[in-house]
Amino acid sequence: MQILQNISLKAYNTFGMDVHADYYTAITQPEQLAAITADASLPAKRFVLGGGSNVLLTQSLHGLVLHNKIKGIEKIKEDDEHIWVSVGAGEVWHDFVMYAIANHWAGIENLALIPGTVGAAPIQNIGAYGVEVKDAIDCVTGWHWDMKQLLPFYNDECAFGYRDSIFKHQLKDKVFITSVTFRLNKKPKYNTSYGAIEQELQKMGVTEPTIAAIADAVIAIRSSKLPNPREIGNAGSFFKNPTIPATQYETLKETFPTIPSYPAGEETVKVPAGWLIEQCGWKGFRAGDVGVHEKQALVLVNYGNATGGAVWDLSDNIVKTVHDKFHITLEREVQVW
Ligand code: FAD
Ligand code: EPU
Repeated sequence: MQILQNISLKAYNTFGMDVHADYYTAITQPEQLAAITADASLPAKRFVLGGGSNVLLTQSLHGLVLHNKIKGIEKIKEDDEHIWVSVGAGEVWHDFVMYAIANHWAGIENLALIPGTVGAAPIQNIGAYGVEVKDAIDCVTGWHWDMKQLLPFYNDECAFGYRDSIFKHQLKDKVFITSVTFRLNKKPKYNTSYGAIEQELQKMGVTEPTIAAIADAVIAIRSSKLPNPREIGNAGSFFKNPTIPATQYETLKETFPTIPSYPAGEETVKVPAGWLIEQCGWKGFRAGDVGVHEKQALVLVNYGNATGGAVWDLSDNIVKTVHDKFHITLEREVQVW
């Protein structure tokens, strides 16, 4: 295992922030994690990095960056309805989605083109177009740094929620996820409830959906709306969509009659943060190399040489103006280091 020193992480985060890590190593086998735990000469502070598509790097990382490269896809078992497949946490998420589709395994086609690794998918329970990954996860396996062993975390132990899981709370920084076992469907249950999918399928001339057609539709919608990190630095939605009491929503509607909402549990509704931010005049904003994307106000962007600090300051200003106007506090989705 090669430990490198003073490495730039610019190529390893989709915001393209040029910060350095004191120490860096690629993890290709779970066994390396035991060796790292036992090596007292290595820094105790560790940062687990996947595709770097949900992190904002604001400063040099004084510690050891562990870049997850654990590969492998293995069929575990099957019955008439389902197939269980264990996937190395360092596999690229979108590649696995395409692999599943090629094998006619259904359940994650709506999650096509989400950047990042398989191992990060459970961390914030990735979701898009009416589907969340929690519905396809059977078990997450990870190296527990304190327990010094690989442990299984079954679906009902993961406390999955909207962009949330136990790995962001009790198990934050405690576990390196090494593999995820998915339970996929042999008989697809199509989810085209998200309006834009139906429209896109029609545009494509598809009358009978297939999982491949749904993935194609999702890919087309996403490509038209979201900036490609290879072209403009970004980390997708910077904030979560806030959930507010239905009573607060009704009061807001008196002042802002067009405010959109989605049902979210009993007596609460979800409001699109992109709408709130746009209403505060931020959409298309640019100051130097930081900005708010012109097509999607929920996406903050780095046009070139922005610093993480400048993106953080912009996000702070957005939080303040949204709070002043709507009395809603936006929560960041992106992990800030
Ligand atoms: P990283 O950014 O590397 O890490 C994210 C966090 O997870 C960090 O805290 C890191 O320490 C931790 N982590 C990563 N891997 C491990 C591991 N193996 N073990 C323990 N901890 C780990 N997200 C959605 O939910 N839906 C979307 O539709 C969506 N669209 C996006 C579009 C764009 C253009 C971009 C840039 C991002 C988008 N995202 C979306 C966010 C992002 O793709 C997901 O959060 C993804 O799961 C992050 O994966 P990653 O490997 O890049 O994680
Ligand atoms: N909107 C605006 N202005 C904008 C952007 C959005 O008014 O600039 C409003 C519109 O009313 C629109 C609504 O917001 O109808 C929803 O917009 P969109 O469908 O683009 O979805 P989103 O809420 O902005 C969420 C996820 C995305 C996910 C899409 C599709 C969150 C925080 N974001 O975005 O996930 O891909 O839905 O399901 O939940 C991510 O997490 O990084 C991410 C990209």
